[in-house]
Amino acid sequence: MYRTHTCGELNINHVGQSVTLAGWVQRSRAFGGMIFIDLRDRYGLTQLAFNEGWDKSLLEEASRLGREYVIQVTGEVLERSSKNNKIPTGEIELKVTALRLLNAAKTPPFTIEEETDGGEELRMKYRYLDIRRQPVLDKLLLRNKVNLAVRQYLNAIGFVDVETPFLIKSTPEGARDFVVPSRMNEGQFYALPQSPQTFKQLLMVGGIDKYYQIVKCFRDEDLRADRQPEFTQIDCEMSFVEREDILQTFEGLLRHLLKEIAGVSIPPIPRISYEEATRLYGSDKPDIRFGMPFVELNQKTQHKDFKVFNEAELVVGINANGLAGYTRKQIDALIDFVKRPQVGATGLVWCKYNEDGSTKSSVDKFYDEADRKAWLEAAQAVPGDLLLIMAGPKDKTRKALGELRLHLGDVLNLRQPDVFAPLWVLDFPLLEWDEETQRYYAMHHPFTSPYPEDIPLLDSAPGEVRANAYDLVLNGSEIGGGSIRIHDKSLQQKMFAILGFSTEEAKEQFGFLMDAFEYGAPPHGGIAFGFDRLVALIGGKESIRDFIAFPKNNAGRDLMIDAPSAVRQEQLDELMLSLKA
Ligand code: AMO
Repeated sequence: MYRTHTCGELNINHVGQSVTLAGWVQRSRAFGGMIFIDLRDRYGLTQLAFNEGWDKSLLEEASRLGREYVIQVTGEVLERSSKNNKIPTGEIELKVTALRLLNAAKTPPFTIEEETDGGEELRMKYRYLDIRRQPVLDKLLLRNKVNLAVRQYLNAIGFVDVETPFLIKSTPEGARDFVVPSRMNEGQFYALPQSPQTFKQLLMVGGIDKYYQIVKCFRDEDLRADRQPEFTQIDCEMSFVEREDILQTFEGLLRHLLKEIAGVSIPPIPRISYEEATRLYGSDKPDIRFGMPFVELNQKTQHKDFKVFNEAELVVGINANGLAGYTRKQIDALIDFVKRPQVGATGLVWCKYNEDGSTKSSVDKFYDEADRKAWLEAAQAVPGDLLLIMAGPKDKTRKALGELRLHLGDVLNLRQPDVFAPLWVLDFPLLEWDEETQRYYAMHHPFTSPYPEDIPLLDSAPGEVRANAYDLVLNGSEIGGGSIRIHDKSLQQKMFAILGFSTEEAKEQFGFLMDAFEYGAPPHGGIAFGFDRLVALIGGKESIRDFIAFPKNNAGRDLMIDAPSAVRQEQLDELMLSLKA
């Protein structure tokens, strides 16, 4: 037996017992004739004590142990004279009577402790060492806990876990596919699924009724803190449901997870329309942990000689509570923030509501006290507040002000990671017009059903058709999205036609689905959660990387195994592939 206990287990109740532990040497401290070693495993740390007076040769052996050596020790549990109340094993130590070296270790390239000196790249290259660190380990343990709680909730209400294939067919919609050449079918390729969307719909045609899968998805898109090329979804689909059934079921899932894992009870999840979300917060995934809604000021600003406002499609502001005291320099920093290319605003007008009730703005040349008061009133500002105003094309200006709003939320500490503010965003437009390619794209995906009452608009005003789709937003991050699906062949055909597919193309790409719709497809709908994002948010973080055991970097590389990499010429030959010189 390698061990009788783990390194996180022993306490004052074990004093006097003989035990065996195994683990890694985290730290070794020598004092005269004594050595103390912190022995670590997944469960915690236990202090090992060696004493010249107890056993000199054992002390010498201990002195030769380096950081991260793997050892096994047997000894007697003693009560410590100086206790450490920060760790569960802090009241005891192990008087070692036998030591066995299981494996030596090179000096690790960074410190394997709570805080590390290792940079991101180094930690990725030696990820297996990083995983030994408590903060990383905790995130993986949290992921496992959430995974289990998801399965418990869904299984309890009749969902069935069904696996769907990873080698599928490439389709042009959505992000770019990762493709896999087929050796047995010369010149042909599989694609890795961006999601199991069509398969889960076929499972509904197959009568599965309630499906789920915690499943890898693959998307060849630009990466960010909350995006990985391979990520995990909690993918779900249900038959004989309407939107309300889906919203209730999965609101229940989020409630269950937050309660089970974070111990937080959430009130019913508020719902807003896409139109309202963009109008009030400049985003289709607003962070509603704080207010600061937009106030549109066209009518109150376009009556004077200020060209910037007069020529703007939208003049819109937000009230930054309590910031009237901001200095010129602090305001300039906000202006610099909005002018960054990522935000893209041309400028920012400010208007202070001073504590003494007077007002002052950066455009006093054009507007008088009465104008400024009218703006401040519209924004429900009180003395001490600072109104920040942007003007320009509607969508762009809303987006930029939305960024400023989030920035102010950070500055004012209104985005606390332990506060959970979920939100359903509903009534997305079905289609999105793309200027560049001069065609419509499906805002969610081509299988999303329009609202039945909007179907007549598909011919006359496709851009106005609303989708029966919903996103679940948590703390400003989209953690899930789904829709009620089209289950009728002719409507699905029509959708493909609007998206610019010829009848042949639609048949070639999605004939299997439309064929299935002819064999009794039930009404159905579903949702997929971004599992990595959900776990990260529950863990109070926005970056998903540490919640994935072996993540890729921003260039899509795995630095540890050094992938992607070239393959041998014979492999290419076998696959009938040649590389451009
Ligand atoms: P969608 O494309 O919205 O919907 O994806 C669902 C959720 O997956 C997460 N997500 C990602 N997480 C990490 N890295 C990525 N690259 C990434 N891309 C998406 C997001 C998102 O909300 N088949 C549909 C769902 C449905 O209609 O049922 C789908 O895939 O949190």
